[in-house]
Amino acid sequence: MKIAILKERAPGETRCAAIPETVRKFAALGADVAVESGTGDKALISDQDFEAAGAKVGPRAEVLKGAEAILCVTGPDPAQLDGAEQGALLVGGLDPAGRREAIAGYAAAGLEALAMEWMPRISRAQSMDILSSQSNLAGYKAVIAAAAAYGRALPMMMTAAGTVSAAKVFVMGVGVAGLQAIATARRLGAQVSATDVRSATREQILSLGAKPVFVENVAGIEGEGAGGYATEMSEEYQKAQAELVSSHIAKQDIVITTALIPGKPAPRLISDAQLATMRAGSIVVDLAAEAGGNVEGCVAGERARRHDVTIIGASNLARSLPADASALFSRNVYNFLSAFWDKEANRPLLPDDDELVQGIRLTRGGKVVHERLA
Ligand code: NAI
Repeated sequence: MKIAILKERAPGETRCAAIPETVRKFAALGADVAVESGTGDKALISDQDFEAAGAKVGPRAEVLKGAEAILCVTGPDPAQLDGAEQGALLVGGLDPAGRREAIAGYAAAGLEALAMEWMPRISRAQSMDILSSQSNLAGYKAVIAAAAAYGRALPMMMTAAGTVSAAKVFVMGVGVAGLQAIATARRLGAQVSATDVRSATREQILSLGAKPVFVENVAGIEGEGAGGYATEMSEEYQKAQAELVSSHIAKQDIVITTALIPGKPAPRLISDAQLATMRAGSIVVDLAAEAGGNVEGCVAGERARRHDVTIIGASNLARSLPADASALFSRNVYNFLSAFWDKEANRPLLPDDDELVQGIRLTRGGKVVHERLA
C-alpha cells in the first residue's frame, strides 16, 4: 500500500500526520510511505529525517500519485487530491460537522474519508483518540500561557527578601484537558482547586492533590450522560453553580476553563460581573473559546483585558507544541490503521460491522455514508 503524507495547508496549522517513527512502523508493515517536501518543517522534522526513516520525499503531485491512503491533521481541499487511487483512504481530523461540503467533495472524489475525531471513546480506542492526545497538550499549555501572562510567581518561595505566596489556580471542567491543567499547575507549585458537573471527577481531582469544589444538595446533580460526556444541567443547578463560583472565584489568581457539552454551545460559567470581583492582574484562560466560550466576552484567538483581568481566548493550543502534538497525533493514526492491517492484502481491512469503523467512516463508494451526516 502506498501511504501519502501531505504538508498541511490550513491557516495556522503547525502539525503533521506522520513522524519518522510512524514512517518506520508503516514500512515494517509493508507499506511504501511518501511525504510531501516540507511536511515536518514546523514540527522540527526535516525532509532528511523522513528519508532516513524510509520515506520517499517529493513534491505533492508525486506523493499523491497512486496513493491508497492519505494521512492528514486537518482535512485538505477535496479539489487538491488528484492522483490518488479510487477508494483511497483519507484519514485525519476532518471536522465532519463543520465541513459538510468538503466531506461531500471527498465522496465525489471517490475517497473513503475516516474522521479520527469521531473515534468512539472506548478502552480499545484509547490509543487512537486524537481528541484526548491533543486536549492533554492543550491543558498543559493553558497553564503555561497563564503563568507567562501572570505578573507573579506560581510556587510559594521563602527567600531572604521575604515570602512569595503560592498562586491559587481554579480549573473548571475536569475532562482530559482539565486533568492535565490540574497536574501542570500542581507541578508548578500552585494551590489548585477544580470543579466539574460529573461527580466521578471528584476522586480524580483529589488523586492529583487538588481540592474539589462541587455543587451539593441540588436535585439532578449527576451531570454524566452518554459516553462519559457531560449533559446540560438544570436551571436550579446552574444557579447553585453560579453562586458557588462567585464565592470561590474572587479568591483565585488564575482560572482555566475547559467545560464542553457535545453538540451544544459551551456552558457559560463566568459572567462579566464575576470577573470584576477578581484581584487585579488575575488571568483567565478559556479553552472552550472556540465553542462559544465559558467566559463572558471571551473571543477565540484573542486576548482581552476587563476589570484588570486578562482573558485569554485559547484557540487550538496543541498547535503551539507542534513536535509533541504531531508525534501523538501520528501515533493515534498509526495505532488505528495498524490495528486493522492485513499482512497478505498489505493494507488495513476495515470491517463494516466494527464499532470503530462505523464511528469514523464518513464516505464510501462515492457516497456520504455516516448516519450523523444523513
Ligand atoms: P469535554 O472536552 O467534552 O468536556 C470537558 C469537561 O467539562 C468534562 O469533564 C465535562 O464534564 C465538563 N463540563 C461540562 N459542562 C460543565 C459545567 N457546566 N460545569 C463544569 N464542568 C462542565 O470532555 P473530555 O475531556 O472530552 O472527556 C469527556 C469524558 O470522556 C471523560 O469522562 C473522559 O474520561 C472520557 N474519555 C474517555 C476516553 C476513552 O475511553 N477512550 C478517552 C477520552 C476521554
